[in-house]
Amino acid sequence: MCGIVGITSSKPVSSMILNSLRKLEYRGYDSSGIATLHEGTIHEIKSEGRVDALEKNLNKSNLYGNIGIGHVRWATHGVPSTINAHPHSSENVSVVHNGIIENSTLLKKMLLKKGHKFKSQTDTEVITHLITEYLKKNDLKTSVIKMLKRLHGSFALGIIFKDQPDLIVGARRGSPLAVGYGPNENYLGSDSYALKSMTNKISYLNDGEFCILKKNNIDFFDENGTKVNKKILELSSNENNYEKGEYKHFMAKEIDEQPTTIKNCINEYIDKKNNDINIFNFPWKSKEISSIVLIGCGTAYHSCLMAKYWFEQITTFDVSVDIASEFRYRKNRFKKNALYIFVSQSGETADTYAALDLCNKHNMKTCAIVNVVESSIARDSKFVLPIHCGPEIGVASTKAFIGQMLVLYLLCIKLAKNRKDISKDIFNNKIKSLESLSNLIKKTLNTESDIQMVCNSFVEAKGSMFLGRGYSFPIALEGALKLKELAYVHAEGYPAGEMKHGPLALIEEGMPVVVIAPRDEYYKKTISNMQEVIARGAKVLLITNKNKDEIFSENIWQSIEVENTTEDLFPFLITIPLQKLAYYSALKKGYDIDKPRNLAKSVTVE
Ligand code: G6P
Repeated sequence: MCGIVGITSSKPVSSMILNSLRKLEYRGYDSSGIATLHEGTIHEIKSEGRVDALEKNLNKSNLYGNIGIGHVRWATHGVPSTINAHPHSSENVSVVHNGIIENSTLLKKMLLKKGHKFKSQTDTEVITHLITEYLKKNDLKTSVIKMLKRLHGSFALGIIFKDQPDLIVGARRGSPLAVGYGPNENYLGSDSYALKSMTNKISYLNDGEFCILKKNNIDFFDENGTKVNKKILELSSNENNYEKGEYKHFMAKEIDEQPTTIKNCINEYIDKKNNDINIFNFPWKSKEISSIVLIGCGTAYHSCLMAKYWFEQITTFDVSVDIASEFRYRKNRFKKNALYIFVSQSGETADTYAALDLCNKHNMKTCAIVNVVESSIARDSKFVLPIHCGPEIGVASTKAFIGQMLVLYLLCIKLAKNRKDISKDIFNNKIKSLESLSNLIKKTLNTESDIQMVCNSFVEAKGSMFLGRGYSFPIALEGALKLKELAYVHAEGYPAGEMKHGPLALIEEGMPVVVIAPRDEYYKKTISNMQEVIARGAKVLLITNKNKDEIFSENIWQSIEVENTTEDLFPFLITIPLQKLAYYSALKKGYDIDKPRNLAKSVTVE
């Protein structure tokens, strides 16, 4: 995680850097800092906490300079504090870093022996001293190459030099790094979003590359210092999507945007005229694929779990799901005929990227389902299916989850049709039922007042459980994750049928338990499991769908009824009240909803 910015210009840069840091705050918000070069001296201002705190410090003391770097931190080595905040500067250089230097202890020992003095507990400070050391005997470019070769781990770096008044070095291995082209100024940023208010002309560094950025020129090099050419991409500008508008929080806005998200995505993929799903240029015949492996982290992992149920129900593929951080280190038996699908909102999650990289190195079929189409995962996958959600800023994923599920579902039924796993009629019916999904989600958003009523019990609880079977189980996991992330309440998602094998011991008088039981083939079984927790004192919030039959239990504490749809599509509707439950619980507690403690949106460290 962490976000980095660099700007070289003909005018003062500190306020521009500050603006970009605000946009990168989703990557980390433990501390922040800026360093500029002015009249041959490096000046730094750093603060613990949010970028707001940095702004206050900047207002107190001006930070002059037409060249500078900035950083927002998500602590890995060393507590969040001003001393550990980046940039880390020596007299000669100043460094911002995103990633982890795995051999920092060894390098530090070597540098201490040479007389270098360290101020912080960070791994980053070794970079500052290492480059300072190389600069004693080498020119700048050679020093950078030598320094980069000594670093193990992942990084994106921005470095300024006391003796170079118009030059920033950017380098990348593992962590992403973009450069932007402006009029008489150039930029470095962890992503294009950070640079968007200044430019829409962007290039990306590939793994192992570095660049030398001057205000009128940018040179790119590979790890050995050979020049490389770069394509300049023009990004569309949709700045409005990055604003909260009338909403108090991005999360509230993003939850409400879900009917539109669904509509946009359906418009992108469904060919209404021919009753088909457009997945153009898919590089493999569906018969060439015998199994599907779905990989992701966090919420994206839950959408993969959801897809496993669909793929198993609708197709004849052999399907498995993996958490990226586990997959990348397991003894994988790569299957020639498997399609590896990587699901990621940001497209930058380090573990997901590493899993993709591993599959690419084994020449596997790789497909990305991402929101950010310029991301590393999108660029390095053999095929990409965008979810068309627009920017998601709230750290806890909401509309991207819905978008990921939708694209996975579309891919599932399209492949099922191509392989003749389902008939044309069944395919047509499935497409037809998707037509109303956006509207149904809109109606489900109205469960607001019911949710607000039950929040108190979750806010005050020591812990809570979320139970479901079949399609509802991944949604139970996602509901529990949302409550943990936002309201910091212990919440466990569990298969309802598994409760009696242990977790039932946790149930005590008054414990809030969410039971997800749409009237599907699992309904009766889930309701029996629900009775087991009620009998032990749980307060059950039942989430089901509208039906003329009575809900057959008198002892339910509260129930929320979502709209009716097909079994396949219930997961979309049931997600909505759970997102709201987490949102309103966090709101009641007065927590920072868009930036929950200890978390970050884009997790670029493993
Ligand atoms: C972080 C975010 C989660 C997200 C996960 C995976 O933990 O806080 O909301 O689900 O990363 O992110 P990705 O961008 O790969 O979907």
